[in-house]
Amino acid sequence: MDRITVRPSGPLSGRVAISGAKNSVLKLMAATTLAEGRFRLDNVPDIADVTWMAALLETMGMSVERAGQTLTVDHPPDITAEAPYELVEKMRAGIVVLGPLLARFGRARVALPGGDDFGPRPIDMHLRGLEALGARFESSHGYVTGHSDGLIGARVVLEFPSVGATENLLMAGVLAKGTTIVDNAAREPEISDLAAFLNRMGAHVLGAGSSTITIEGVEQLAPVEHVVVPDRIEAATFLAALGVTGGEITLVGARPDHMDVLCEKLGGMGMRISPDPDGLWAMARDRAHSVDVTTLPYPGLATDYLPLLVAMLAVADGVGIVTENLFAGRFRYVDELTRMGADIRTESHHAVIRGVARLSGAPVRAHDIRAGAALVVAGLGADGETVISDAHHIERGYEDLVGKLTGLGADVVAD
Ligand code: EPZ
Repeated sequence: MDRITVRPSGPLSGRVAISGAKNSVLKLMAATTLAEGRFRLDNVPDIADVTWMAALLETMGMSVERAGQTLTVDHPPDITAEAPYELVEKMRAGIVVLGPLLARFGRARVALPGGDDFGPRPIDMHLRGLEALGARFESSHGYVTGHSDGLIGARVVLEFPSVGATENLLMAGVLAKGTTIVDNAAREPEISDLAAFLNRMGAHVLGAGSSTITIEGVEQLAPVEHVVVPDRIEAATFLAALGVTGGEITLVGARPDHMDVLCEKLGGMGMRISPDPDGLWAMARDRAHSVDVTTLPYPGLATDYLPLLVAMLAVADGVGIVTENLFAGRFRYVDELTRMGADIRTESHHAVIRGVARLSGAPVRAHDIRAGAALVVAGLGADGETVISDAHHIERGYEDLVGKLTGLGADVVAD
């Protein structure tokens, strides 16, 4: 899919199934390098990043089978502890094989990551944390190569609650000798899902979801079965669409307890939202009210929600000020929204959004996963056609976004 055409739509209505979380399943797949045998993952989203992570595991000598929403990963006695540039360059999550490979094999060679272009995205906290457990690194020719004569547990205080660094330390600490403590750890629901998976494999991880995670290293881990948590960012995308078109929808399988701050924010914009026996119910009748938004690490408002909220604010009633605290360069979608007639001024990591009555459809470009989804959301409420190119970015993180939106009554086509 390289182009999506969006026409004015809504009100949206009906039920939509929320897929498994991209930002969890990729790490669970990386964790399968920690033990020999057969793993089974269920509720696995059909997205490009999963295909690439599977390809990454296969280059190491593992085999990955997909049947519907089930992924079976077979880990033979020995694998090659290397993650090649062609794959890690495409998908930043590839970097989280570093910790588990080092812990399991005492060596790892991983290409420096690429992924969404939000400006500089260093891995210094990953490396410093793993060095505290006794690993040694050298970087050359676009690769980081790590060695260890057996990781030893230590206390690591992260400068910032980095999701990736916390995950690498979690997957290293489970096989390190003694106790590893990760302080100022990331608290995202995907971290708790990874910890639950590791504990099911026989690890001793305590405190996931809080700022202090304690890991008692064990000798060996075993393969298991696991169901991936639902994708809160995908759920937020449908809520933003509803905020632009109006209507009433049910997000089947969504976890309201993972989206508290977002639901509160959308409530402040005039949306009615409540937990539902099947997930989350939401209704929007009138034009949204503008609000101010600030992104923070979980449980604060996720940076991945911001492009979606800005698309809503572009047609909301009033002026909203947004602050992006995690990725300085994450406003590239603003130029595309401006092309559609939005009134947005950015200044470093702030943006001032004066809501306009209606956007106008235009040819625009998706610069990354969430930026692309935000343009789809904006197009649902714009006059005329919005034609989004480079839509392949959207497929990296969304399972059948076009089909799911069409199921809710939206006029969206992919070609
Ligand atoms: C994860 O990225 C997610 N990706 C991102 O979602 C998400 O935006 C981000 O967490 C924050 O929630 C995946 O899980 C695959 P970080 P990650 O390490 O792990 C700085 C999406 O659209 N930092 O928490 O790369 C970093 O530059 C994607 O699904 C360092 O300085 O994010 C950033 O400013 C986009 N040094 C901040 O910390 C480090 O060593 C947070 O990054 C590590 C991070």
